[in-house]
Amino acid sequence: MNILILGANGFIGSHLSEAILTQTDWSIFAMDLAQDKLENCLSNKRFHFFAGDMLKQKKWVTEHIKKCDVILPLVAIATPAAYVQNPLSVFELDFEANLAIIRQCVEFKKRIVFPSTSEVYGMCLDAEFDEEQSHLVTGPIHKERWIYSTSKQLLDRVIYAYGKHHALAYTLFRPFNWYGPRLDNIFNPKPGGSRVLTQFIGNILRGEDIMLVGGGAQQRCFTYIDDGINALVKIIENKNNLAHQQIFNIGNPIENISIRTLAESLITLIKRYPHHAATADKTQLIDVEAAQYYGPGYQDVQLRVPAIRKAEQLLGWKPSVNLVVGLQKTLDFYLA
Ligand code: UGA
Repeated sequence: MNILILGANGFIGSHLSEAILTQTDWSIFAMDLAQDKLENCLSNKRFHFFAGDMLKQKKWVTEHIKKCDVILPLVAIATPAAYVQNPLSVFELDFEANLAIIRQCVEFKKRIVFPSTSEVYGMCLDAEFDEEQSHLVTGPIHKERWIYSTSKQLLDRVIYAYGKHHALAYTLFRPFNWYGPRLDNIFNPKPGGSRVLTQFIGNILRGEDIMLVGGGAQQRCFTYIDDGINALVKIIENKNNLAHQQIFNIGNPIENISIRTLAESLITLIKRYPHHAATADKTQLIDVEAAQYYGPGYQDVQLRVPAIRKAEQLLGWKPSVNLVVGLQKTLDFYLA
């Protein structure tokens, strides 16, 4: 199989590329602006990398959609601070640019494996979010945070409709707070400049206090990248066509912790690294209002637990990496 990965140098793209090259005999055609996360892939003969901007290199993209069997458009802005600060950039890249790719998959009859998101469920009150039953709940228009959720939701609906009315072969996957090595840049000191885990690691290493938005009682199910990638490889493989036209939550419902507990666990774990123990010891947890941290356009999700029955039954997948092990591996990467 030939796989096209747009955004291969991202967190998911780089881990997926590595897994495909080591676990399968598939070839990868990859595009991204940079290649710093791909050092384990670049010398592999089955990895064909092109440095470029998906928005500009349209001819390359079209040629490769035609040439490949499965298309993974992974280019997107995925940090909540950006949803509030640059909502139109989120719309233009996450929605408009990806819609063009989806349409070409329809035109050239190619299978698309598309990243939806846990964010589509928004502030749904269900104890666990079910792909087929849960309502997708967002806030008023001036809460700009939801532009990411609703852009992704509309793409989900567009893909579903192309599947139903134009026989598009697709699978949608919804990552629930995937984390691990190469997540975001911990040296980006901007508040909200990265997702929470890398934000907190960076705070601790720089000797800054940790800001707990809204007090940190909100919970997330943290899912280690290797578990997520195992699911993704099964989805691409599509044994017996079981992933065809399906939506899958890919998350770890057991590792459901509050953001405050995450901060406390990180401080405890980082104290075990002699070079950083003293700084970690001084880290304070400070409660901060969401509007003060992100601006008035932000709204939070209090509980976000995935139902994973579908992935278990159709893909034979379930997560296996517990949070402490996953956090240790992540810290070994960032602190080494
Ligand atoms: C994330 C992002 O939208 C996407 O990366 C992705 O689609 C999705 O979730 C996912 O991975 O499932 P969220 O979990 O809200 O959304 O994003 P984080 O930035 O990781 O924040 C998690 C929580 O930590 C939020 O409640 C946030 O307010 C809090 N936080 C963040 C703090 O308390 N302090 C900080 O310094 C940063």
